[in-house]
Amino acid sequence: MKYTLLLTVGAASLLAGCSKNNDFTPAVGMNGEAIFQAACIECHQPDDGGYYFTLAKTTDIGKKVSGGGTMMPAFPNIQGEALRSLAEYVTAHSRQAE
Ligand code: HEC
Repeated sequence: MKYTLLLTVGAASLLAGCSKNNDFTPAVGMNGEAIFQAACIECHQPDDGGYYFTLAKTTDIGKKVSGGGTMMPAFPNIQGEALRSLAEYVTAHSRQAE
């Protein structure tokens, strides 16, 4: 019984695809770079110049991480100081679009 329920939930979240959450939880004291290497690098590799993104002025990294995107999972467990440090790392390693 319990097993059937787990399988059903698993299949449903696979099908939902776009609105999935990633339950990555940073260890205490992990800095932005360590978090990025652990949680983000699988999808966001640096370009030849070592930059991850070209960010528009309107891009809110905190919101992106907390809320996800059409393709990107949300990371509800990256919060507070960890999220601030991650956003700082991402900003420092991105180009700013004009
Ligand atoms: C499973 C793959 C995946 C993971 C893991 C992932 N992302 Fe993303 N990310 C995407 C995709 C795909 C997009 C663009 C489409 C969208 O918004 O869904 C994106 C978009 C972004 C953007 C917006 C870029 C722009 O130019 O507007 C930022 C910032 C970003 N991701 C940061 C992160 C951070 C920080 C992490 C780690 C906490 C992370 N992503 C983890 C797939 C991922």
